[in-house]
Amino acid sequence: MSTVAELRAQYDAYKALNLKLAMTRGQPADENFDLSNDMLTAVTTDDLVTPSGVSIRNYPGGIFGLPEARELFAPVLGVKPEEILVGNNASLILMSSVFTWALLQGMKDSPRPWIQDAPKMIVTIPAYDRHFKLAAGLGFELVTVDMTSEGPNMDQVEALVKADDSIKGIFFVPVYSNPTGDSVSDETVRRLVSMETAAPDFTIFADNAYAVHHLTEEEVEPLNLLRAAEDAGNPDRVVLFGSTSKVTFAGAGLGFLATSVANLAHLGKLMGLASIGPNKVEQYRHVRFLQSYPGGIKGLMANHRAILAPKFQAVQDILTEHLDGTGLATWTDPKGGYFISLDTSRPVAAEVVALAKEVGVALTPAGATFPGGVDPNNSNIRLAPSRPPLQEVEKAMEIVALCVKLASAEYDAK
Ligand SMILES: Cc1ncc(COP(=O)(O)O)c(C=O)c1O
Repeated sequence: MSTVAELRAQYDAYKALNLKLAMTRGQPADENFDLSNDMLTAVTTDDLVTPSGVSIRNYPGGIFGLPEARELFAPVLGVKPEEILVGNNASLILMSSVFTWALLQGMKDSPRPWIQDAPKMIVTIPAYDRHFKLAAGLGFELVTVDMTSEGPNMDQVEALVKADDSIKGIFFVPVYSNPTGDSVSDETVRRLVSMETAAPDFTIFADNAYAVHHLTEEEVEPLNLLRAAEDAGNPDRVVLFGSTSKVTFAGAGLGFLATSVANLAHLGKLMGLASIGPNKVEQYRHVRFLQSYPGGIKGLMANHRAILAPKFQAVQDILTEHLDGTGLATWTDPKGGYFISLDTSRPVAAEVVALAKEVGVALTPAGATFPGGVDPNNSNIRLAPSRPPLQEVEKAMEIVALCVKLASAEYDAK
């Protein structure tokens, strides 16, 4: 084991390098975006009316999206075309729209608008900061449960929802979660869709942002929540979300949501008050591009994987080389998605992030994976290796590993 002074000396040597490396947010690399550049010219004046007879330049077409787009994206969420709504540029706006309408008007079978019940939302920890901010910003009180390697801790979830009818939903990532990369097990799915809930309109909001974002040969595809809910006799309990933000262009793709046909009719009626319909030019552009891409969406995702997987492997290799067996940290090894979650054994996550920043490596702020930005254990760090080039990921991870050692040694020396 190196001494604090030796680690400090190694660390100080990095200061002289004037590095500027960013591993903060889960963004695709330009190389990933380049795969979809043909989408920019995928629609021409030859495509003004789609095969289903919809004019992409005019209003008519409805709130649910182009039939061709519903057909194309239904398999991404494992649902039927009539169960999916394809919207505009990304998925967070759809989540906010569904929550807002539920608060102001209720879900299909709600006895009254949720806002009248001082509503609560279950979220997992650690998780995606924007989920916390969205739900809290709309007025939900957040109730946390632990994220496990099989999804939300179901013992905690079941006890909570059975006892409290102001808990209106659970909001989480079912596959390759942000940040741990964990996915729900079939058993978790079965328990979620069949559990006893005090609220009659309790809803599972599953943000399947990384449904097709595999990093290995093993494609994790748990039991489909919508189908399982149907089988359990609770067909209206589930709303799924997804988008092409990490398929085509981030924030300039398409968002979608899927739920029972009955729920979709209810939500469509409400969402149709705010909009005549989504941007059909953009939808048709995606349809034309993805239909003609070799291997379709699967083929495109395989090419994304070829760019992303070596970066994720580099994180594993470097963490293993420097931290394995030290007892200073544990980390996840996701089979897909965009993140790796690292937990320091000592309460030093904020110190690690600050040390890394001082030598030019920007990481996701410590605590971001917890509501209010506060990690009670000060141990979780979200690593996002997707955006920088491989060599930068390697350099940044060498520094992260050193910062973990240094912060831990300084903590022990106190
Ligand atoms: C779990 C999860 N959901 C949603 C998003 C954002 O999705 P969109 O661009 O579709 O709004 C992200 C982005 O990092 C994410 O990690």
